[in-house]
Amino acid sequence: MRAYDIIAKKRDGQALTGEEIRAFIHGYAQGDIPDYQAAAWSMAVYLKGMNVQETAALTEAMVTSGEQMDLSAIDGVKVDKHSTGGVGDTTTLILAPLLSAMALPVAKMSGRGLGHTGGTLDKLESIPAMKVGLSTDEFIDQVQRIGIAVAGQTANLVPADKKLYALRDVTATVESIPLIASSVMSKKLASGADAILLDVKVGRAAFMKTKEEALKLAQAMVDIGSRLGRRTMALLTSMEQPLGNAVGNALEVAEAVATLANQSDCGFGPVSAELKKVTLELAARLAWMAGKASSVEEAMVLAEEKLSSGEALARFRLFVEAQGGDGRVAENPEEILPRSTYREPVRAEKAGVVTSLDGLIIGQAAALLGAGRSKKEDAVDPAVGVVIHKRIGDPIEPGDVLAEIFANDRGRDEAKQLVRSAYTISVGSAQVPILPLILGEVRPEQ
Ligand code: URA
Ligand code: CA
Repeated sequence: MRAYDIIAKKRDGQALTGEEIRAFIHGYAQGDIPDYQAAAWSMAVYLKGMNVQETAALTEAMVTSGEQMDLSAIDGVKVDKHSTGGVGDTTTLILAPLLSAMALPVAKMSGRGLGHTGGTLDKLESIPAMKVGLSTDEFIDQVQRIGIAVAGQTANLVPADKKLYALRDVTATVESIPLIASSVMSKKLASGADAILLDVKVGRAAFMKTKEEALKLAQAMVDIGSRLGRRTMALLTSMEQPLGNAVGNALEVAEAVATLANQSDCGFGPVSAELKKVTLELAARLAWMAGKASSVEEAMVLAEEKLSSGEALARFRLFVEAQGGDGRVAENPEEILPRSTYREPVRAEKAGVVTSLDGLIIGQAAALLGAGRSKKEDAVDPAVGVVIHKRIGDPIEPGDVLAEIFANDRGRDEAKQLVRSAYTISVGSAQVPILPLILGEVRPEQ
């Protein structure tokens, strides 16, 4: 089987066989197929698409290009959640302890961030002494002992995706549903969970700008999971404005703790009700998928109970301490977490109502302050970021604090200007957009 023939077949719009896809992907991962052929192949897939069988075969080929996590030593249904990315998406920090409080084993492998803000690992590392580099044995042992671990991946998972994603990034072939769906799902499948929930973000600050596009991606990912034998479901959630109010690593930890503690304020600003709502919706679906309740509604009652009783917060503390972190962060985040030198308000100049709030710009402002990284090797500043005080639909008086900047020596003035420009404040009888938070759901065919 020559790589040339496989490229030509896809170029001509034909469906590839599983064998052809496997040969191509494994050949590429092993270095037998060069980048230029993989680039041509990616463009052919981008232009001609893939059917459901091909997409599943591609995912499986990627999974088998490297190691796979074996979580079978852990009792119970192992659940995992993946978000397609947005701004102020602090859900994992709240969801993981909440699921653990619902007696679901949480063996979560997370990543670092690139772009706007850090990833879950960066956020966790803002907690003093917290370790996220566990060996596979330590990781599994911790889940067996206390029911929860969140760490960076140690095994060599999906090497084909690492190569292919980097290649797509520089060949204008990222925005392809079969390529995105197989890329995301290969990593979830290799991580070993039995049940997978995909949080597909829709809106201005998301990868998928419209509900139609998001539904297509969600359906493709659910099809892959189902074909490859995992319980898989997707929820479409709004990313029209940042989900949480905090955007920045330690700030997001503080908002997560306040949410877990059922507070409406994190000491530096309001807690986002939307963040709590989306986290509960995700928790209820995962608990239902794992068989903890006979309906999503029943699972929601359980999730709300575990959050309001403080059990989820207690699980968070246990988890932080198990990974060497200072557990007092669960009671006094403001004292324990690193703080920035400057805290400065961005104020409204005129009266009106917030009609849009661009999360991408808020994310850029946080990154300018040092909360994100532009290259993989960059360090993040845990203390800096932006905290939103006014969201879409809020009425505004002149002088009101729209948001606050938490800064050290980098980017203060520029970040303030960016934050101001992220807001659209309309006067008079402006139409305030209605923003449903949950836009849809894709369940596997029964
Ligand atoms: N995220 C991924 O992991 N892969 C893609 O292809 C796109 C987004
Ligand atoms: Ca640390």
